[in-house]
Amino acid sequence: MVTAQEHSRIKDLLGRIVSGTRRVCVMGSANVDYTVTTEELPLPGQTVNGGPLQILPGGKSANQAASAGRIGARVSMLGMVGQDDNADFLLRKLSEAHVDTSHMGSAPGPSGSTVITVDSHGENTIVYSAGSNAQVSPDYVQANQSVLQEAAVLGLCLESPLEAVMASATICHNRGIPVLLNDSPFLADLPRELIGQTDILLVNEHELADLLRIEPELVAVDEQVADGFGRFHDQWEQIRSSLAAFGYQTAIVTLGSHGAVVLNGSQATYIRPVHVQAVDTTGCGDSFMGTILSGIAAGLSLTDSAYLASYVAAYAATGIGAQASYGSSQQILNFYFPVTEKS
Ligand code: RIB
Repeated sequence: MVTAQEHSRIKDLLGRIVSGTRRVCVMGSANVDYTVTTEELPLPGQTVNGGPLQILPGGKSANQAASAGRIGARVSMLGMVGQDDNADFLLRKLSEAHVDTSHMGSAPGPSGSTVITVDSHGENTIVYSAGSNAQVSPDYVQANQSVLQEAAVLGLCLESPLEAVMASATICHNRGIPVLLNDSPFLADLPRELIGQTDILLVNEHELADLLRIEPELVAVDEQVADGFGRFHDQWEQIRSSLAAFGYQTAIVTLGSHGAVVLNGSQATYIRPVHVQAVDTTGCGDSFMGTILSGIAAGLSLTDSAYLASYVAAYAATGIGAQASYGSSQQILNFYFPVTEKS
């Protein structure tokens, strides 16, 4: 349970998002997640028993948009669904999460989908089939540029064709609208132009290690020493300057159950993890990103946004699925602070 001080800070930050008027735009993917839980994830060549098949709304971008919408941000999504039954399902679930889908397109063939297995610790494996997400083109982006231009912040990931991602980044960057890029599914060699148009990079610890070609252990933060983390902790100062040399001046690195680090200018700020009983971590990173986008649109600092995101994303780990596990501001407050909210 969180302290009264934490509760009041979370409540204040969520309140600022709910009362914000500026829009988040997410351009990218929507998938139907065919999800099965199992005790242990299967090894190559192995067959394991699983629970009932669940058909759930997902897709990194749609999840980011849905998480933002659920906590009360104003959100528009750009992307393509297919011409199948899943299309209606995906659009309906986004609308239920208060995401404006009125500019989403539709392409012949199946919608995006994934096959997901979740083990008894909440860890997962995901296989992605792009379907209609592969049809998102620079022409479609250009045709919907007004949606991008009206946004206070743009969220992108790499489940859509790179040309469409770059076209979106260019439109926003040229207008001074901050671009938040989630380099996932991870691509090591992004075009210089896209790096230059990315205001904030969001990666997890594995993606960061791959990007900088360093040992994953160098990224690890031991929570026991987090109190002494300090602004210029050697390890993160080195990472910060390597990312800056790469072209990323500002970045957020998520560390799974170990928290996150915000690298902003010359500062590295450690965001402590929020511990919950994890059921399924699918889409937690997307929920984290959706909250960061919401925070930026509402004028919160990156540190405040990441602090809040750690609570919102941890809440998402307590339920099965990605969007299916996202909470409203009130649900999140009630979860962490049931006594005060009831009294
Ligand atoms: O990040 C989780 C998401 O990745 C899932 O919802 C799945 O659709 C894949 O895109």
